[in-house]
Amino acid sequence: MNHFLDIHTTSATDLRAMIDNARAMKIARAGRPKGTPDDDQPLKGRMVALIFEKPSTRTRVSFDVGVRQMGGETMVLSGKEMQLGHGETIADTARVLSRYVDLIMIRTFEEATLQEMAEHATVPVINGLTNRTHPCQIMADVMTYEEHRGPIAGKKVVWCGDGNNVFASFAHAAGQFGFDLAFTGPETLDPERVWLDFAASKGHPVTVERDPYKAVSGADLVVTDTWVSMHDPESAKERRHNQLRPYQVNEDLMAKAKPDALFMHCLPAHRNDEATSAVMDGPHSVIFDEAENRLHAQKAVMRWCLGV
Ligand code: CP
Ligand code: NVA
Repeated sequence: MNHFLDIHTTSATDLRAMIDNARAMKIARAGRPKGTPDDDQPLKGRMVALIFEKPSTRTRVSFDVGVRQMGGETMVLSGKEMQLGHGETIADTARVLSRYVDLIMIRTFEEATLQEMAEHATVPVINGLTNRTHPCQIMADVMTYEEHRGPIAGKKVVWCGDGNNVFASFAHAAGQFGFDLAFTGPETLDPERVWLDFAASKGHPVTVERDPYKAVSGADLVVTDTWVSMHDPESAKERRHNQLRPYQVNEDLMAKAKPDALFMHCLPAHRNDEATSAVMDGPHSVIFDEAENRLHAQKAVMRWCLGV
């Protein structure tokens, strides 16, 4: 049994195998209606719980569809409606759910909640986003880059904006997949040191550059994310917008990247804040491939977790 909690706590070999498997599964069902089952039904007879303590469109739908394509069944649970939201401990919830289901995916606030769930569950647990990381997203992003441009190893990836949870998983991925990551954003929203240290420990130190135009120069991939994440207080919105405005990804900034650079955003986006619609809908953008690849990447993650 494998938990999929983070990119840096999963071996590089296993991460690579999952990306390759995701690609193979995507190709195997190309052109089929979304509702048709895969030829392989590795989740037949398996039940998957999808727990959401925060909103979601992509994670919710892609996990649900992915499980069904592989022959399994899902139940989608809102944290608020569970006893979890009314004082039952995470540990007890994990023990109880493990008696009913074969796999648990949880989107939550604190990383400690995810860790406690994994510690006490006797079935695999998948991280569907916490305040600190979003590993499933970056699996889809690596898959998407490679689908368009070949191996990501050695490429220059530039993150513009907030040093947030999605950035953290990019920093982990830089170490595990061997790409060069640069961060450009205001000092007040710098990423946590420990994320940068991980990439550096694997021989891929993250560059920090305050000037977005310098940072993006020669980039193979430019990435951004919302300026206000789900765990950020609404009261911080105006301050964050003011600090992050110079880091908007617009056509001028994209023009500094390599001519064949890709643009990614995990979505949901606030169009014309962190990225302009001209970029999001422009020739560099692969944002909807990224969204689609959540489905394929997570199917590979679930198979790895269950060993099927
Ligand atoms: N990118 C992502 O995780 O989207 P959702 O919040 O819609 O799941
Ligand atoms: N950083 C964003 C990602 C959403 C998928 C958030 O945590 O809200």
